[in-house]
Amino acid sequence: MTITTERDTYAAALAASDRLDALIDANAAQDRTRFRMLTGDRPTGPLHIGHYLASLRNRVRLQDRRVETFVVIADYQVLTDRDSVGRIGANVHGLVLDYLAAGLDPTRTTIFTHSAVPALNQLMLPFLALVTDAELRRNPTVKDELALSGGRPLSGLLLTYPVHQAADILFCHARVVPVGRDQLPHLELTRAIARRFNTRYATGQRVFAEPEALLGDVPLLMGLDGTKMSKSKGNVINLRDTADETAARIRMARTDSELRVTYEPRRRPEVANLLTIAALFRGESPALLAEAIGDGGARRLKQVVTEAVNEGLAGHRARLAELARDPGHVTQVLREGNARAVALAEQTLSTVRAVMGMGH
Ligand code: TRP
Repeated sequence: MTITTERDTYAAALAASDRLDALIDANAAQDRTRFRMLTGDRPTGPLHIGHYLASLRNRVRLQDRRVETFVVIADYQVLTDRDSVGRIGANVHGLVLDYLAAGLDPTRTTIFTHSAVPALNQLMLPFLALVTDAELRRNPTVKDELALSGGRPLSGLLLTYPVHQAADILFCHARVVPVGRDQLPHLELTRAIARRFNTRYATGQRVFAEPEALLGDVPLLMGLDGTKMSKSKGNVINLRDTADETAARIRMARTDSELRVTYEPRRRPEVANLLTIAALFRGESPALLAEAIGDGGARRLKQVVTEAVNEGLAGHRARLAELARDPGHVTQVLREGNARAVALAEQTLSTVRAVMGMGH
């Protein structure tokens, strides 16, 4: 008997992701839509360097590799773990600014909010009928978020948001979904929904293809205090922070009492995390960077990290300042992105209704 562990599954997912990555380059010149990509963020606050290094940069690279790109601002998803949407308008605006500053180009990338796309949301109804409550309840992200919610009752939206996410992905027939390890179960569910839709409602026609995960190669980054990065803990550097704010935050970062800087992720996680951040911005290896700093100690380490982050983000921040001068531009980008998403979602919904015999 073979026992498949989460690690085996992850190794297989990584191998599949590498194959997909190679195919993207081989294909890009011929057909931009074949590897259409969708990913997204919840508009809960400013993006930080963790988002930038682990996902935003990669989206821009994929766009520039001629992959047709969709980015959903998941505004309804904000309600899965909080009672109100908060400053949602400002948060959506801020996200679009960061996307544009990072290099997402609205003529090649469709940026939209899912609340503006009714047909996308309607897909959730037939999709909900294709999953069981047991499947939803054992989803690890739903479980984790429930655990973090401090004993609040489980809302229907939290339980079903992986299905909503499937609608985000399938409405535009995305084939590639860049995700972190934690989102793999969502993608499995999306694949199951695509398969079940085809067999149960479409007599085997391939209305939906199964999307594939593209896994990032950036290790999990910690906040400056050595714990999980979190906006509410204030242990992050936001992309929009000034160079001085960045320096001040890094000065307060936690290190340890050893004089010499070495790269030992297990034994010295805080120092290793700072090295990794600097190394990712500089495109170097953290171990070599540690050797170069050596006896310079924590003081020198923090200088190096501050320079790396500020230099790495200088262009982004200059573009943010430039974009902020024309708030109407963001509104325009969203309006156009939403219109494109609406057109596509209506097409998909009309196919769905037709194959289900509801197309009158
Ligand atoms: N759940 C994702 C997050 O919290 C955001 C998201 C919404 C998403 N819809 C998506 C990601 C579809 C990938 C595909 O970051």
